[in-house]
Amino acid sequence: MSVPDIHPDVERVLLSEEDIRTRLTEIGAQITADYADEPPILVGVLKGAVMVMADLARQIDLPVEMDWMAVSSYGSGTKSSGVVRILKDLSADISGRHVLIVEDIIDSGLTLKWLLSNLRSRGPASVQICTLLRKPDAARVEIDVRYVGFDIPTEFVIGYGLDYAERYRNIPYVGVLKPSVYES
Ligand code: PRP
Repeated sequence: MSVPDIHPDVERVLLSEEDIRTRLTEIGAQITADYADEPPILVGVLKGAVMVMADLARQIDLPVEMDWMAVSSYGSGTKSSGVVRILKDLSADISGRHVLIVEDIIDSGLTLKWLLSNLRSRGPASVQICTLLRKPDAARVEIDVRYVGFDIPTEFVIGYGLDYAERYRNIPYVGVLKPSVYES
């Protein structure tokens, strides 16, 4: 297989396709063991979590369900305001169900803090979180995350579902964006 060229807007590759695949295989096995008696409903948070959901779900050897939510920050344009509105709600009723939220990245943690309390108010049996990426230095609230793919530095990362101005989501690896792209 040929090695794909690095995108010209990418400063460096942070996580290769293989890094991601290896880690998701490990996490999938862990989830398979942890939920053996109670297959969860996977709740993906659009749009960034599409790739993680697709690849992780195929590493879980259980009859999981998949559902989706889309949320957006209210107000001033800064995405980490913590005030969130639902753009698309779940199709499923999660009361009495074991819910596993699937995220691409936890930055400030504010989106998930809100989402956790929203989902918990619906009476699920449990709610846990799986995220591919986490930026520990950017955390503004403490959140208990059961499955973390990688802790990464506070840099502007794109690819594998992550965007800048809706671009780069389809790059197959996670890369650091060149500052010239967003500073120009
Ligand atoms: C990203 C990511 C999380 C959130 C994390 O979504 O998917 O949902 O930001 O940030 P926080 O921890 O600071 O709250 P984004 O709002 O960029 O939407 P997208 O998934 O559609 O790209």
